[in-house]
Amino acid sequence: MKYLMSDQTLFRDRDVFEADYLPEQFNYRDAQLREMAFAIRPAVFGSRPNNVVLKGLPGTGKTTSVRHLFSEIRETTQRIVPVYVNCQNHHTRFMVFTRIYEGVFGHLPPTTGISLRRILNEVGCALSERKKVLLVCLDDANYLLHDGVLNDTVFSILRLYEEFQGVRSGVILTVSNTETDFRKELDACVISSLQPTEIYFPPYCCDEVRTILQERIHQGVYAGVISSEMFELIVERALLAGDLRVGLDLIRRAVLGAEQDARKMVEAGDIESAFEISQHIHLANSVKILNTEEKKMLRSMAEYSMQEECIMYSGELFDSVREAAPMGYTTFFERLKKFDEMRLITMRSCWRNGNTREISLRYEAEKVLEECGG
Ligand SMILES: Nc1ncnc2c1ncn2[C@@H]1O[C@H](COP(=O)(O)OP(=O)(O)OP(=O)(O)O)[C@@H](O)[C@H]1O
Ligand SMILES: [Mg+2]
Repeated sequence: MKYLMSDQTLFRDRDVFEADYLPEQFNYRDAQLREMAFAIRPAVFGSRPNNVVLKGLPGTGKTTSVRHLFSEIRETTQRIVPVYVNCQNHHTRFMVFTRIYEGVFGHLPPTTGISLRRILNEVGCALSERKKVLLVCLDDANYLLHDGVLNDTVFSILRLYEEFQGVRSGVILTVSNTETDFRKELDACVISSLQPTEIYFPPYCCDEVRTILQERIHQGVYAGVISSEMFELIVERALLAGDLRVGLDLIRRAVLGAEQDARKMVEAGDIESAFEISQHIHLANSVKILNTEEKKMLRSMAEYSMQEECIMYSGELFDSVREAAPMGYTTFFERLKKFDEMRLITMRSCWRNGNTREISLRYEAEKVLEECGG
C-alpha cells in the first residue's frame, strides 16, 4: 500500500493556492499599478524614483502588485535593482540590509563577523560604480515601527547618496493598517526625504471576490469538484472574513477534505470545517512572529479579557498584565501599539478620559490563547 502517492486528486494545480503564487490573471488593480509605475519611472532613466506608500486592508493585492511590478522591472531594465523585503521575517535594519546586499550582489553577505557599516559600504560603493538605482519594497512595514526600526532603515536607504556619489534610491512601503500615519511615526528629517505618493487599495467588492476565486478554482481544481451552490458558500465565507486569502485557503482545505474522504465533490461540511481553520490564518501568522515577551503579554491579555467584559481599559489591563509579565508602562504601551498595528487588537481613546484607551481583542480570547501556546 502506498500512502503518499495516491493517484486520486481533485487538484489540477495545487500551486495556485500557495501563499507565494503569483496569479497571471490580476484584475482590478490597473489604476494602482499605473500609479506605482508612474512614481517609479524616473528610475528607469537613472533618476531618483518617487517613494510610494501602499495602503489597504489585508488581502487587497498590495504584495501581488509589487511582485508584478518587480517582475516587469527585471524583464525590462538593468538600471534598477529591485529588492523585496518581507518585514515580518526581516524585522531589523541589519536584516533588511542583508536582503539589499543579496539584491545587489546576488548572494548573501557572510553570516558571521560582518557589520551593518560594512554592508552599507559595500552596497553603496557597488551602486555608485555600477550606476544603478536601488528600489526597496518594505512589505508590511508596520512590523518595523517598534523601536524606531523603520525610521532608521528608511533613513539609511534614502540617505545613501550623501556618502556614495551619484547613488539614487527609493522605497515602497506597504501597510495593511489603514490608520497608520507615517508622518506621526517617523522623524521630521526622514519624512522630508520620504515625501511619498500614497496609493490606496480598496477592498474588493462582492463581484470582484467572486470572479477572483472563480478564476483560481478554474485554474487549480478539476471541473465539477465545487458545485455552484458550494461556490456561493465559499464566497460568503470569504466575504465574512474580509480577506481574499481566507477564501483561497478555504478552497484548498475544503478540496483536501473531500480528497481525504475519497469523494469527488466538495460538500458543505468540508467548507465549514475548513473555515474553522482558514479564518484564523491571519491570527496564526501574526502570533508566529511575536517574541516570547510579547506573546506572554498577549496571552495574559486574552486571559484578562475572558474574566472581564470584552472591552478592556488600559490602566486596569496594565495592572493585571504586569503580574504575569513584569514590565514598565512605556513597554506595555509600545506593545499595545504594536498589537494594534498588527490588527490583533483594536485600541481607541476613551471618551471619558483622553489618557485611557479602550482595548478589545480582534479574535476570540480562546483562539488567541491557543495560538500563544497558553
Ligand atoms: N486582483 C487579484 N486577482 C487575483 N488574485 C488576487 C488579486 N488580489 C489579491 N489576490 C490574491 O489574494 C491573496 C492576497 O493578496 P496580497 O498578498 O497581494 O494582499 P496584500 O494586500 O499584500 O495583503 P496583506 O496586507 O495581508 O499583506 C494572494 O494570494 C493573491 O494572489
Ligand atoms: Mg502583503
